[in-house]
Amino acid sequence: MSVAVAVIGAGVIGRAHIRILGALPPGQGRLAAIVDPTAEAAALAARLGVPYFTATEAMLDAVRPDGAVIATPNALHVAGARACIARGVAALIEKPIADDLDAAVAVADEAERAGVPLLVGHFRRHNPVMQAARRLIQEGRLGRLVTISSDSMVLKPDSYFDAAWRREIGGGPVLINLVHDIDALRFLCGEIEAVQAMTGSTARRFAVEDSAAVLLRFRSGALATITLSDAVPSPWCWDQTSGENPHFISHQANAYRLCGTDASLEMPEMALWRYAGQCGWDQPLVREVLAVPPRDPLVEQMHHFLRVIRRDEAPLVSGRDGVATLAATLAVKRSAETGEAVHPGRALPSRTHPPGA
Ligand SMILES: NC(=O)c1ccc[n+]([C@@H]2O[C@H](COP(=O)([O-])OP(=O)(O)OC[C@H]3O[C@@H](n4cnc5c(N)ncnc54)[C@H](O)[C@@H]3O)[C@@H](O)[C@H]2O)c1
Repeated sequence: MSVAVAVIGAGVIGRAHIRILGALPPGQGRLAAIVDPTAEAAALAARLGVPYFTATEAMLDAVRPDGAVIATPNALHVAGARACIARGVAALIEKPIADDLDAAVAVADEAERAGVPLLVGHFRRHNPVMQAARRLIQEGRLGRLVTISSDSMVLKPDSYFDAAWRREIGGGPVLINLVHDIDALRFLCGEIEAVQAMTGSTARRFAVEDSAAVLLRFRSGALATITLSDAVPSPWCWDQTSGENPHFISHQANAYRLCGTDASLEMPEMALWRYAGQCGWDQPLVREVLAVPPRDPLVEQMHHFLRVIRRDEAPLVSGRDGVATLAATLAVKRSAETGEAVHPGRALPSRTHPPGA
């Protein structure tokens, strides 16, 4: 069965989804419609010969797609998801699931109650490197995780900020970029118990933050530091080192270091550091690079979404996952505002509360 997928929001990431849908093998899936109020989106739909709409509900009622990608600005995710859920249409909702935790919990609950699959677009989890690292950790190859350091430092071009919502609260690198790192670290290291953070906006002087320094404590006891900025020339971020995003020039550097009692891992290079014989700083460390054949995680995510739509697989990133990642990400903002440590699990209702957090 060829799955019909509509794209709601044909901006930067929406157009990437449109390209992927257009390149799917015949019979697997196809672009069913585009929803976006701009003239550029209307022209794109005309060029591709697909139905064009300015309103989500009108599209869903007229086209009745099997699934929809919601790639609108953050504040519109929940409204788009609700329109899909009400009509039984599976949704791939871009990250973050919402810009408000209560709305995120409500929409994840609504989807569960209605039995409509929601996949949240934390597409890094579909990267084979991320999956190989998770297996390595679960197999105990690093021993017990002790410390993690994660860098997310990059220079966004000035033109990126032409869209006004990116200069305003909710449109900054904590919700747009850090949310990916937090989701990836949850995927690799488990639930986050406590968050302490500071944010700054002195580089760009917009209402929204441009930088942050974050401390995490995982339920396992492991501790992480994350350094974030979208205003500095640097190669040290996942997007610029993993080669997974064609919008970024790729550099040979690493963004994550995961250190355990038996070995440490640099990612995305997948360099494993360990002692071959006796251990200790007076002994040589061996560095072994593990080969992981690359695959485009955004394409992998779409193939997974098609299987989710067909009910062949459960979402790899569920609404509940999207909520827990958002709770930890919003905890960064709250901690920065209050100066206090924040326990993200405590902000969630017990159904969504990650056990033990
Ligand atoms: N997964 C990723 O790596 C990734 C990357 C970039 C962005 N995103 C997420 O995707 C979302 C969009 O980001 P972007 O960078 O593509 O933004 P963008 O501003 O380039 O695109 C947003 C699009 O939504 C359209 N839009 C606005 N209101 C609409 C409505 N009511 N109905 C339909 N369309 C509407 C806009 O006209 C615009 O074309 C954000 O939530 C962002 O966090 C995810």
